[in-house]
Amino acid sequence: MRIGVLTGGGDVPGLNPAIRAVARRAFDEGWEVYGIMEGWRGLRDGLIRPLSREDVSGILHVGGTMLGSSRTNLAKKPGDVEKAMANAGKFGLDAIVAIGGDDTLGVCAHMSRHGMPAIGIPKTMDNDIPGTDYCIGFNTAVTTVADAIDKLHSTAESHHRVIVVEVMGRYTGWVAVMGGIAGGADYILIPEVPTSIPEVCEHVRQRWASGKRFSIIAVAEAACIKEVVSAEAGCGPQTDDFGHVRLDTRGLGSTLATAIEDRLKDELHLEARFVVLGHLQRGGSPSVFDRVLGTRLGVHAVELIKEGKFGRMVALQGDSITDIPLEEVAGKQRKVDADLCALTRMFY
Ligand code: F6P
Repeated sequence: MRIGVLTGGGDVPGLNPAIRAVARRAFDEGWEVYGIMEGWRGLRDGLIRPLSREDVSGILHVGGTMLGSSRTNLAKKPGDVEKAMANAGKFGLDAIVAIGGDDTLGVCAHMSRHGMPAIGIPKTMDNDIPGTDYCIGFNTAVTTVADAIDKLHSTAESHHRVIVVEVMGRYTGWVAVMGGIAGGADYILIPEVPTSIPEVCEHVRQRWASGKRFSIIAVAEAACIKEVVSAEAGCGPQTDDFGHVRLDTRGLGSTLATAIEDRLKDELHLEARFVVLGHLQRGGSPSVFDRVLGTRLGVHAVELIKEGKFGRMVALQGDSITDIPLEEVAGKQRKVDADLCALTRMFY
């Protein structure tokens, strides 16, 4: 057997542990492992090279991905799938393991439909892939968010300020909610729960009245703030292969901080500041959780190949590693559930 492994989409800490696990488990079977560089683009363009035991040694604790990554949608351009299939044949790949988020897994499902034996491994700091309780990279990202909120508390309190912390999350509020709960954010804005600027200001006002003369507000980059959404109806330019708008250019943290200060500076004599955590959330060494998750999912992917089960995504459900059809995942997002949203409100 010769298998290929690739990483696609935004990088996260935990990809290298998954690559290492796929390779190590495959080597134990006496199989060969090839690295497909730069995501699906590497399969299309033939950027493929053999991996040795040494290549995957010493990478467990290293962030990013040793294989490189890209957002390449093979389903978009006529002929790309055929080129990728031809390269899989040319390099003698019997199966492919694709580690990625909704886009990468969507291409994986597409390739499966075209006859490529493929397995997906869920990775995204957004944590919004259906069928798995956790995705590789999320735990490290929310740990970074909680650390940042911890640090912001003292300066917000010293200066009696509102500090808005903008975090990532393209469609869902998992990072804002979990990072916000862990860091003790005083208000959390996410796409799942539309909020208005007056609601946020009223909350700040009530905290001031109760003697808490500072507030930390966590906002997901895609949060639905009524005044902002209506102002930007139609959205901005689309910038990548999957048609995604760059949400960092929305500047939600800045908009929110300015709106709060404008409305409350005279009344409460407060100032507001904002911090965009951005790609810091995708950096650093993977947490213990992400190292173990990547390892467990990577090993299970190879077990599936051994059993000849393809077109599936490995997943964590409860404490068990299992697998589900890729078709159940492609193009869908797992939203933050209502119970968790209610939990955040208990601590405002
Ligand atoms: O999908 C993961 C993610 O980190 C999103 O949370 C964010 O909107 C996007 O990627 C940022 O992507 P880029 O790497 O293109 O800046």
